[in-house]
Formats: sequence, C-alpha cells, structure tokens
Amino acid sequence: MDLPKGLAGVVISETKISSTKDAKLTYSGYPIQELKDASFEEVVYLLWHQETPTVEQVQDLRKLLVSEMKLPDETIRLIKEVAKEPQHPMSILRTTVSLLGTTHNEDGLDQPPVILAKMLTAIAAIIRLRDNQKLMEVHEDWGVVENFMYLFTGQRPSPEYVKMFSTVMVLHADHEFNASTFTARVVASTQADYYSCLTAAVCALKGPLHGGANEQVFKMLAEIRETGIKPIDYIEKQIAAGKKIMGFGHRIYKHGDPRAKILRGIAEKMAQTTNNSVYFDLEEQIANYMFEKTKLYPNVDYYTAVIYHCLGLDSSTFTTMFAACRTTGWMAHIIEQQTDGTLIRPSSEYVGEMHHYTGPIKAQATASVTKKVVDFGATKS
Ligand SMILES: CC(C)(COP(=O)(O)OP(=O)(O)OC[C@H]1O[C@@H](n2cnc3c(N)ncnc32)[C@H](O)[C@@H]1OP(=O)(O)O)[C@@H](O)C(=O)NCCC(=O)NCCS
Repeated sequence: MDLPKGLAGVVISETKISSTKDAKLTYSGYPIQELKDASFEEVVYLLWHQETPTVEQVQDLRKLLVSEMKLPDETIRLIKEVAKEPQHPMSILRTTVSLLGTTHNEDGLDQPPVILAKMLTAIAAIIRLRDNQKLMEVHEDWGVVENFMYLFTGQRPSPEYVKMFSTVMVLHADHEFNASTFTARVVASTQADYYSCLTAAVCALKGPLHGGANEQVFKMLAEIRETGIKPIDYIEKQIAAGKKIMGFGHRIYKHGDPRAKILRGIAEKMAQTTNNSVYFDLEEQIANYMFEKTKLYPNVDYYTAVIYHCLGLDSSTFTTMFAACRTTGWMAHIIEQQTDGTLIRPSSEYVGEMHHYTGPIKAQATASVTKKVVDFGATKS
C-alpha cells in the first residue's frame, strides 16, 4: 500500500485560522507580508477570532495580557527547582507548562489570554532563573512585546528592536498543521484541558526537525567560527556524512519560506547593530552554497538563530522563544479543535505477520519464545 510519508500532503481537517496554500502563508486570509507590521496583540486577536479587532478591542487585549504577565510565588518556587543546569530549557519549559496547569490554574478555568501571558512570563523566568538573574516586573503602560523582551533581557529595548522582534513574533504566531500544532490538536480532540494540549505541543516543538532547529543552526555557526573551517568545507563534510543541514528545507515551501525572506532582513540589521555581522556573513555564505549544491532554501529557523543571539540569548534557549511566539497559534487551534468536537483517531496498515494463539506462551517450550518472555522481564518475579 502506497502511503504518504509523514502525512505529507494529507488534508486531515478544515481550519479558518491559517493557510499555506500555494506556498503563501496567510492568517485568517491576510498575507503575512501585510501583517508583519501589525502589532502582536492585533495578530493574537485575529488568530483567535478570525477577524481584525477594533482599536478598543486591541487595547483591551493588550491591557489584559500585560496585567496577567506575572506568576504566582508558588510557580516561581517550582520553576527554580527545575530550572537548573544541565536540564535543557525546553525540558524545563515542558515541566513548567504542566506545572502552570496545576499550580496556577486552580479552578481549571484559565482562559487563552491568561494562558498566553503566563507562557510568556514563564519562558522569560526560565531564561533568567537558569542564569541566576533576578526576575523583572512588567510595566502596565508598555505593550506585550516590549514587556516580554524586558522580562527576558532585563533591559528596556529600543523602539526599533521592539518593532523588529514584534515582526519575529508575528511571523512565528501560526503555521497551520505543523507538527506541534497538530500534536496540540490531537490532544484537544480528546477534549483534554488547555495546559495538557500545550504541554504536548512543547514536546513536539523540541525536536531538531521542528523548532529545535534554531539551536542547531547557531551551534553550526559557532563551530565554523571557532574551528576556522571554511563554511563550504563544513557543509561538504556534513552532507558527505549523510547529515542534514539545520535551518534548510521545508515540507511545504519547496521554493523558499516566505518568513525566512523577512527574517533575513531583521537578522542582518540586528547583526550590524550588535557587532555580530560575522554570524550573518557566515549564514549568507552557507545559504548561497546550499542553494548551489542542494537547491534547498533557508527556513524560519535559519535567521532566527542570529536574531536570538543578537538579543543576548544562549542558543540552548532559542526554541523556548519559538514556543513563546507559537503559543498564540497553538491556543487558536486547540479552541478550533475542541469546538469541532471530533476525535482525531487515524488508522494504520498492519504489516506484521498473523498468528493463531494456541495457549499460554510458557507452555510452548521453544527457545525463541522463552527468550522473548525474558526480554520483556515477565519471568523476573
Ligand atoms: C524540514 C524537513 C524535516 C522537511 O522534510 P521533508 O519534507 O520530509 O523532506 P525530506 O526530509 O524528505 O527531504 C527531501 C530531500 O531533501 C533532503 N533534505 C531536506 N532537508 C535537508 C537539509 N536540511 N539538509 C540536507 N538535505 C536535506 C533530504 O535528505 C531528502 O533527500 P533525498 O530525497 O535524497 O532523501 C527537512 O527539510 C529537514 O530535516 N530540515 C532540517 C531541519 C530543520 O531545519 N527543521 C526546521 C523546519 S521549519
């Protein structure tokens, strides 16, 4: 039976949240090229309501989100317990999201704005507590992006940086049925609670074939820089060893990721203003060579590696940034799936052998069967 590998091209459900049809990314019908300058709050509203907000609605959402960008003492105490080296920040986040669902969400009725606000604050807290830095407090009169940047960097960002990072957050906010969103939807389809769905989404995002790629991209750049190897030689070696180059290729975008095109400009600008052009220049050389050699284009995780580095983040925390931005989309899809009410339960094609059961396994004293039982530890007691 010819099955689509990894569900490639399989439409499993309808959605009104976003689309990548014809390799064009749209949020509720609006192209991301037009939304890149919208405020983060506007995009959150759009993805959650599938319509653009009024000025008052954006203001109300901003106020609500900012007012909720704080964590209860008990949650902070527990994050401190888990946010320690050598735990990976995404593992800490996985535990933290689960903790939020129990330590904070006492009545089990947290609503999406509260959850998004707590996610952003928890991610900033993980980044700072891991480095033994003090936690910052939100400013009620600032926007969500400015506050978030302040919470994880400890410094008030310039308006230009707020604008650039806001675009990064908007571009990452949703991406139809990517692996983590689909994971969240599967859990949501069982009518599980929001935090359970989000915890599952974080687990799926962690892997290097999905959100974890941005960390690997920076590791590659750092290795090339530290060893002094020529970028082309590095790529040649990796490909000859059968390894994938992180930050390249995409299941949907075979002729370039529209988000990467916009992110490239931001990475270049941030690299210039923070004395990090060496990394951006390396990325340019690698991208040019990858295209020449493989015809693969950079994806969303390629340029964010330089962007997050320019914001002063350690590469191990990069994927938590992706999670912060994608929480908006995850929540939109969880709500859509729960409202739909259909259980996601696909089928599989069994390709193993068929047998006839002839009695308890221990009665069949053949060597192979005995070995199987021992392997599963069934004969221990
Ligand atoms: C994203 C990704 C998983 C998409 O995978 P996909 O749609 O299943 O496509 P495949 O992995 O089957 O790739 C098709 C071909 O291109 C090659 N390829 C894809 N991405 C590659 C990469 N980053 N480096 C080198 N070769 C790559 C594959 O080896 C495969 O070659 P083959 O046909 O000779 O076997 C894949 O491109 C990848 O692993 N990229 C690196 C990880 C990454 O950056 N992830 C973030 C995605 S936003």
